[in-house]
Amino acid sequence: MTIASPNAVNSLHAKPKERAHGALSAFSGKALSAAATTWFVVAVAGQLIFVLYILSFYASSALQGNMQAWNKVLPTGHVPGDTLGNIAIAIHVLIAAVVTIGGPLQLMAKIRAGFPRFHRWNGRVYIATVVVASISGLFVVWTRSANGSFLQHLTISINAVLILIAAWFALRHAVARRLAEHRRWALRLFLVVSGSWFFRVILMFWIALNGGPAGFDPTTFQGPALVAIGLLQYVLPLAVLELYFFAKSSARPAARISAAGLVFALTGAMAVGIAVATMGMWLPKML
Ligand code: HEM
Repeated sequence: MTIASPNAVNSLHAKPKERAHGALSAFSGKALSAAATTWFVVAVAGQLIFVLYILSFYASSALQGNMQAWNKVLPTGHVPGDTLGNIAIAIHVLIAAVVTIGGPLQLMAKIRAGFPRFHRWNGRVYIATVVVASISGLFVVWTRSANGSFLQHLTISINAVLILIAAWFALRHAVARRLAEHRRWALRLFLVVSGSWFFRVILMFWIALNGGPAGFDPTTFQGPALVAIGLLQYVLPLAVLELYFFAKSSARPAARISAAGLVFALTGAMAVGIAVATMGMWLPKML
């Protein structure tokens, strides 16, 4: 004979209103985690396309000794005679591929639980590479980037500072075994490291929305829209993440359902941005 658990007995005696609330609460939790998983799968797919582009354009022309080809994308990708600047941009772009592959691997629960040693080593490599990517990026943006205005340079420099801050906290909490805090900072780190990728995705979504460049000059690559997108590349993902944390721990199902709806809607917009970036920016350079 099976004996009903106290929970089952309680739920039998629960009033219909309480049962409905319980069901709504369970549904809202599932909806929020489905939204987060969908977002992650779409983002990782988009970042993989970005990595394929980096490897097939930058890495393959570097292996052929044809760094001049980089100038097709970056006006000052390769400047004859400027050895330090050329090394900085080479390190920056090639490390971008390592960073973009390493980040999602750190966040996958199955890999974290099944291969803890890999998680620790990949984590160390990830932190070291994001620091190098940020410092080389800062060097390039303030010494020889031909693209963008002072304000645009400032917005991307803030991204570099945010990466360094998030990397510091993610590492400190991991070393001190404060795993809940480590996880929160690791998610923030992943989002700010993805800032460059978000910039391209938001820009292409904006261009698709307006049927062409709007709010900036495509020849000088300057304008208010680019300053706004420069800020949005980290402000929007970080704000949505904080909302997600809030909704996840909230007792109100409505908070979780609203957050899930927002994440689904933003994932749709992100998918459009990824598709346009792939077709307009990355694929043509890969073929
Ligand atoms: C850590 C994540 C980052 C990744 C994955 C990344 C990736 C890339 C890639 C792939 C390029 C080549 C451009 C293209 O082909 O589209 C690039 C260029 C560049 N990145 Fe980054 N980047 C990151 C962070 C940063 C940061 C934090 C800064 C600035 C502080 C920065 C500044 C630059 C600059 C100045 C260029 C050259 C653009 C130009 O010459 O106009 N990057 N980055």
